[in-house]
Amino acid sequence: MEKKFKRTTVTSALPYANGPVHIGHLAGVYVPADIYVRYLRLKKEDVIFIGGSDEHGVPITIRAKKEGVTPQDIVDRYHYLIKDSFEKFGISFDIYSRTTSQTHKELASQIFRTIYDKGGFIEQTSEQYYDEEAHQFLADRYITGECPHCHSEGAYGDQCEKCGTSLSPADLINPKSTISGTRPLMKETKHWYLPLDQHEAWLRQWILEDHKEWRPNVYGQCKSWLDMGLQPRAVSRDLDWGIPVPVEGAEGKVLYVWFDAPIGYISNTKELLPDSWETWWKDPESRLIHFIGKDNIVFHCIVFPAILKAEGSYILPDNVPGNEFLNLEGDKISTSRNWAVWLHEYLEDLPGKQDVLRYVLTANAPETKDNDFTWKDFQARNNNELVAIYGNFVNRALILTHKYFDGKVPALSELTVYDKETLKEFADVKIQVERLLDVFKFRDAQKEAMNLARIGNKYLADTEPWKLAKTDMERVGTILNISLQLVANLAIAFEPFLPFSSQRLRDMLNMTSFDWTQLGQTDLLTTGHILNKAELLFEKIEDSAIEAQVQKLLDTKKANEEANYKANPVRENINFDDFTKLDIRVGTVLECQKVPKADKLLQFKIDDGLEKRTILSGIAQYYKPEELVGKQVCFIANLAPRKIKGIVSEGMILSAENPDGSLSVIMPQKEVKPGSEVK
Ligand code: 2FM
Ligand code: ZN
Repeated sequence: MEKKFKRTTVTSALPYANGPVHIGHLAGVYVPADIYVRYLRLKKEDVIFIGGSDEHGVPITIRAKKEGVTPQDIVDRYHYLIKDSFEKFGISFDIYSRTTSQTHKELASQIFRTIYDKGGFIEQTSEQYYDEEAHQFLADRYITGECPHCHSEGAYGDQCEKCGTSLSPADLINPKSTISGTRPLMKETKHWYLPLDQHEAWLRQWILEDHKEWRPNVYGQCKSWLDMGLQPRAVSRDLDWGIPVPVEGAEGKVLYVWFDAPIGYISNTKELLPDSWETWWKDPESRLIHFIGKDNIVFHCIVFPAILKAEGSYILPDNVPGNEFLNLEGDKISTSRNWAVWLHEYLEDLPGKQDVLRYVLTANAPETKDNDFTWKDFQARNNNELVAIYGNFVNRALILTHKYFDGKVPALSELTVYDKETLKEFADVKIQVERLLDVFKFRDAQKEAMNLARIGNKYLADTEPWKLAKTDMERVGTILNISLQLVANLAIAFEPFLPFSSQRLRDMLNMTSFDWTQLGQTDLLTTGHILNKAELLFEKIEDSAIEAQVQKLLDTKKANEEANYKANPVRENINFDDFTKLDIRVGTVLECQKVPKADKLLQFKIDDGLEKRTILSGIAQYYKPEELVGKQVCFIANLAPRKIKGIVSEGMILSAENPDGSLSVIMPQKEVKPGSEVK
């Protein structure tokens, strides 16, 4: 039986305060969360909506160092910019605070201490790189060196961005500290770990058995983590930016950002409701929902619940509606490549069009798979849906009422069968919208809400009141009454999705009473009720506005290509002998599989003409193993064998790299004998 809850705590991922927010953030997390909260509020349910900035972590310190300012300067700058963008897009947080607040520092320390005192952590000593000149341990991102896999310079301690391989700092050849430029030394350091392996049994039951209703992408990711077996996770770091580990002998150590960030949801609730916050987080009759993007699934479904369980007094999330990613014009959104539509720029370039973006992002929401945002689609959805369907219907109903009835809601007289069918149809829409919102299907719910306007347009087109005006004003009155009731319903149904337009529509309708239970009713506006002046709800977006946005992206692309070329110029000439040292051959792929616990690696068995050889390649993000079996690939046959993730790789498969880092394997244009040389 479905559990009844008294109240709902809704959280949305806390964005890192080290850059502005873009449409990917809005589509993936904040618009869906806001739709859901507005829906619950309209239903008069008890709900709080918690947001805030995530202000700790290494990327913030790196950015500060690069700019020669303090981490506090960075987070101050972006916290307010992000907060302002959210506000202007109508994301209706009850609080938007920050993880550098005093309340948060105290609560995160207290939760760590409670778990520590209960023996919920294990302590482990490991060797980590230490910069003797800067007197500090180095986070993975503070160490660069040669990639052991593709041998390019500048690989980071956690990943080579050239070939995409996940690394650990000890894998790097010739490691260098990015702080002092010196070679770091290995030194022992102690950290606290959350023993996730000890939590595995209950997590399996709780997610895989008790929450089969979670979205398939969320459930699937959890299952694959659980099936691989959970390992203890370090919850502290050697860093000077963060919340100090509240234990004696932990000088110079701070809480790992992913330990403190989700606790930020609780601290922000405490800041909002100092006297009753615990009810929202501890009472079993409270329901907790986390809205997140797919890169955050493991932290919200496995790590944070384990933290809460280890502490012992908190409830666990009831659902975690995680979205996939939104791409932009066919390419992955990227902050470093400036490939994004930044919200603060959108607000300047297309003022007053927040609802248009909300609408398009929901219509294209990446709920089940990655989706693409294009400016052409944005324009088409505005012009063909918001203007031509929703706006057009509203405008016709209001203008006709002003024209024939002086802006007063006309009386209903006898209803035809068609009138009754129309009324029944929009009562059904309410049921559909509700059913879909309850299961976090925002994209379909918005489509259903739009159906109300479609019903209205069809009704006006079929009944043609403007033709009856000369002969049967009573009938015209009935048609317009029904149409106006539909318009009032639209104002309610669209409030969660398009709050600004809904407000304007309510103003035009002079509508004061307003809640979800009224949706589907046909007497929202009483006879004689006086309407306000009608205005256009949406305006056509001209080609020139879209072209300007597309041009902006083309300029970014050009700048990126130039920067890429500069960063990657053609290398010094070599002589022919140098070239012949490389033994490049063609091989046929006999087998191909993923390497366990290495997201980026594929393991190949290749027929090289003589024997079968094993080669690892960092292309798992771009190919499914089965796509490559039977294909011919080019590989370097005389590269000295190297061990990667415990497997000896006997060569290197050649791929071409796009500016965005995606890889395409080089294949001969006609089939050749395995072992053929490439010259
Ligand atoms: O991925 C991110 O942007 C993280 N800052 C999200 C944190 S969500 C929560 F745990 F605070
Ligand atoms: Zn590499």
